[in-house]
Amino acid sequence: MAINIKNQIFTLHTKNSTYQMKVDEQNMLIHTYYGNRTDDTDCSYLIRMADRGFSGNIPGTDRERVYSLDFLPQEFPVYGDGDYRVDCLKADLGSGVQDGMFFFDSYQVREGKYNIPGLPAFFSSEKSEGETLEIVLKDAVEEVYVHLLYGVFEELDIITRAAVVENRTEGDIQISRIMSACLDLGMGKYDLIHFYGKHAGERQMERNSLPHGITELRSTRGTSSHQHNPFVILADKDTTESTGECYSASFLYSGGFHAQAEVDQFNQTRLVIGIDDYDFSWKLKKGESFSTPEVCLTYSADGFSKLSQTLHQAIVSNLIRSCWKDRVRPILVNNWEATYFDFNKDNLIAIAKEAAELNLDMLVLDDGWFGKRDDDFSGLGDWFVNEKKLCGTLSELVKEVHDMGLSFGLWFEPEMISEDSDLYREHPDWALKIPGRAMNRSRHQLNLDITRKEVREHIMNQIFKVLDACKADYVKWDMNRSVDNVFSAALPKERQGEVYHRYVLAVYEMMESLVQRYPDLLFESCSGGGGRFEAGMLYYSPQIWCSDNTDAIDRLKIQYGTSFGYPISAMGAHVSVCPNHQSGRTTPFETRGIVASAGTFGYELDLMKMSEEEKKTAREQILKYKEMEHLVQSGDYYRLVNPFENNNHVLWQFVSKDKKETVVCGVRLHSEANPYIYLFYPQGLDADLHYEDIATGKVYTGAALMKAGLPLPLTTGDYQPIRFTFKAVEK
Ligand code: GLA
Repeated sequence: MAINIKNQIFTLHTKNSTYQMKVDEQNMLIHTYYGNRTDDTDCSYLIRMADRGFSGNIPGTDRERVYSLDFLPQEFPVYGDGDYRVDCLKADLGSGVQDGMFFFDSYQVREGKYNIPGLPAFFSSEKSEGETLEIVLKDAVEEVYVHLLYGVFEELDIITRAAVVENRTEGDIQISRIMSACLDLGMGKYDLIHFYGKHAGERQMERNSLPHGITELRSTRGTSSHQHNPFVILADKDTTESTGECYSASFLYSGGFHAQAEVDQFNQTRLVIGIDDYDFSWKLKKGESFSTPEVCLTYSADGFSKLSQTLHQAIVSNLIRSCWKDRVRPILVNNWEATYFDFNKDNLIAIAKEAAELNLDMLVLDDGWFGKRDDDFSGLGDWFVNEKKLCGTLSELVKEVHDMGLSFGLWFEPEMISEDSDLYREHPDWALKIPGRAMNRSRHQLNLDITRKEVREHIMNQIFKVLDACKADYVKWDMNRSVDNVFSAALPKERQGEVYHRYVLAVYEMMESLVQRYPDLLFESCSGGGGRFEAGMLYYSPQIWCSDNTDAIDRLKIQYGTSFGYPISAMGAHVSVCPNHQSGRTTPFETRGIVASAGTFGYELDLMKMSEEEKKTAREQILKYKEMEHLVQSGDYYRLVNPFENNNHVLWQFVSKDKKETVVCGVRLHSEANPYIYLFYPQGLDADLHYEDIATGKVYTGAALMKAGLPLPLTTGDYQPIRFTFKAVEK
């Protein structure tokens, strides 16, 4: 059993970690331990009580002045209980003020992992069933209950958490803040590692030592955002890729989020993460419940590589549902950077023919095929085919593409509306907008009020009609602005604080209807590139367009940062033209291929304009990607060289599970006259096996490669590609 309970001590074990909490003598649920796997020993001995001046004492304790929640590590701290640190719940339970004091009520253990209706969550599978622990807390005064849900996947080495607030009072309760989980770490000084960014520059890794006080990361944009990612790591000062302790929290939510790390007066660190509470309120009527999104926690005693590998595997096996997760993904060509809005049937067919020649697998038709959409001023919301532009029906185009042996993909942006659209002219109140206020536009578009059922149904029915008719094999679901003008004409004034969360629930409902209706569809989500690159989205789509920035050198940092929390096979990565459309930089074609092969590979350029030399390289690239695709899908990934620290080269590595095959890839950033020698050290090999370098035929032991290392090739010119393939051979 992964969940052991004795004398109201709850010990959860995963392969390499132990998580423990306990109902104490005041009937409070306190957190006692999370870290390296140990046994069921009651770890509350680690907590030392003392008289803590100016810290509140809960009523009725015979140890008044000593027993204070302001100091104790907790599982679900609540505003009003005498703990002045960041909390998980702030609510008016009926008295008119925000207050609460929750005591242990009961618990239940169940086989299999809990679900959260309407929200993404890790699931039980044959490979990894998981177990559920539900602990119920009750307010001291009101009939309000908090159900703390723990999902324990022993083999996957992860623990998930979520909370449900249940109103059993006779009246309404009003929640103004609810976090999904709290992680109280009593000892140690931690670094916070997080992933900030911007459009076309997402998930830049930053590591800072936590100061006293509150450090917070949040998105108030209604999306998880390009600017901050809902994934954080706490690590010891000395933790490296291969050594040291670290913890991570991944928030499975595609809306605004709030993560706070507080180092308190006693040097204890508390991490909470949940729905952004900046503009949030939720009214719970008698008998209703509110479920938070899920958080996935993991721990590594062996550095960041191990932490990431655990997450990669857990996400692929028990979060991504798509049948495509284990399948070879089609190598696609997307027409966006090739044509933007300026295409017609002829040039699409020409691109498709060239794609077939090059041995690509799929043509994706991006923005501009519907309504009146020749630029970004109009057309969103009108999901009917522009047959004039396509010189016929979409089905005819798709048939021609299919006849060439290619599959076909189509772009949608279902959550948006252009003011210049039939939909807006007919239903101006279907856009989110605040009565009497000027609308804040972004990319000339507005958010649809998808919190309204009739809006969701209208959009999805249009999309279904197109997909049913054309038989597309792939859908790219885009979202190209932050949520704003947040007022729903369909909700009363006192419920407007619910709109942001209702919006996210609506996105999930729409996506769910799509994936249920077309179980074989390959679904890629996107938000101006990686504005919603998080675990929540991966429940619906096995891959996400990683960034609108296709520059190979910028991608080194973006993909490096993304790899900490998300599987490599989830990152959409394409070879594009040079000078690059976003950065203006020119890099060798081969280098662009190397970088794009650390993801789901494709092309995003006008194949018709490629030189013969480039076509030759592309053919080789495709073959090489096909050779290593299984490693991208299911190999162990190692970040060998950090692009934020090394200006000379960047390297990463894939190793097959049986350790018999490995590919090291990278980019040599700058050329040097009279060059230095740089060694690199492959990871994760079997020290006793012999590995042949496929390019040179030279054979090395795993021990030599890992310990003595290998010199990088002496290249000339900037941005040169690096690739080594080693295979285990008989001695
Ligand atoms: C977003 C996407 C791009 C492309 C355009 C089309 O920016 O990230 O890949 O689809 O929209 O408008």
